[in-house]
Amino acid sequence: MRHNFDEIINRRVSECKKYEAACYPEDVLPMWIADTDFAVPAEISEAIQQRAKHPCFGYPIESFEFEEAAARWERVRFGWNVDPHWVKYANGVLPFLMYAIRAYSYPGDKVVIQPPVYPPFSAIVRNNGRQLLENRLMQDENGKYQIDFDDLEKKLKDPRTKLFFMSNPHNPAMRCFTLEELKRIGELCLKYNVLVISDEIHCDLTYQGYKHIPFGSISEEFANNCIVLINPSKTFNIAGFRTGAAIIPNKRIRDNIEITIVNNKNYGRTIFGMLTFVTAYTKCDYYADEMMQYLQQSRDMMMAYMKERIPRIKLAEPEATYLMWLDCRDLNMTQDELKAFMFNKAKLGLNDGATFGTGGTGFMRMNIACPRSTVEQALEQLEKAVNAL
Ligand SMILES: Cc1ncc(COP(=O)(O)O)c(C=O)c1O
Repeated sequence: MRHNFDEIINRRVSECKKYEAACYPEDVLPMWIADTDFAVPAEISEAIQQRAKHPCFGYPIESFEFEEAAARWERVRFGWNVDPHWVKYANGVLPFLMYAIRAYSYPGDKVVIQPPVYPPFSAIVRNNGRQLLENRLMQDENGKYQIDFDDLEKKLKDPRTKLFFMSNPHNPAMRCFTLEELKRIGELCLKYNVLVISDEIHCDLTYQGYKHIPFGSISEEFANNCIVLINPSKTFNIAGFRTGAAIIPNKRIRDNIEITIVNNKNYGRTIFGMLTFVTAYTKCDYYADEMMQYLQQSRDMMMAYMKERIPRIKLAEPEATYLMWLDCRDLNMTQDELKAFMFNKAKLGLNDGATFGTGGTGFMRMNIACPRSTVEQALEQLEKAVNAL
């Protein structure tokens, strides 16, 4: 491998939220928020250092390199022929959810989400005065989350439903939706005239046997009824640079989003954000490949370990993401007890499953995007704590 993913880096000295904001004691392993403990690719470090030598950092030009880099990534990695003119910038993926809400619904209108899901989805809907409709994902006998399509149709059919927020690959359900599932979703959204906002920020993070399909690549009709959101932040550990891209093939939708961005005066780009985004999406394919090889081994090791040595906590087969969704319901604890157990006994700083909304209670989320030795240590601590119960 060109990159060393085993390297242990002291992040406590880098104003890092994962290690510092939570104020964890030294003996608690922080494995929560979704960034990695890996160094960025050498190409990104070099680009930053090179630019930092120039002493001026005023307003940057809006070079078209950003749009071209996003289009290239989709084309080369997923075979979707994206026209760079379809690409819009924002300082994160989340602002686009807000733009879509403001451009495509009125207060009181409804937005469908699939809980348990990334918490800001529901917050952003509620905080903008819209109503939430939940199409709850349901686990099958293997713990794999499935879509209840009858329920989804019911929710989309509601005349006040304007938007469908999809997380694909799904955080925290670890699902990489299949072509068949995406087609059924897309057909239903067309039928009931609901715009699809497909958050594909975890698109690079699929495991062997699973292939990410950009929603807009499926058909022209789907492309004309969606906004696809991407960001190199999760893959290349550059969330701190605050970038995000929306791919909007339909001109009318694109213009409406542009008006919303301009009306909200939210259009400034950052010098280092542009630089890291473009470098990641044009020069660092090898890093994404190598990181997934590394994570594949960590994920396989973890699955085997959990099954054999911690069977009371269940981990369904992760199809994608480095965020492991742990089903702790067999421990028979209240959510407060579970959180205290993980923190005080297992010494692990995890995400509280309940914050992911309906269906999240009894679960905890563990981020394994760190050196494998840390994952091994975490599993040993967890095993010891469960055995002591
Ligand atoms: C599904 C999903 N969407 C969006 C984000 C955050 O996006 P951004 O930091 O680009 O706003 C995350 C971060 O964990 C996520 O998991």
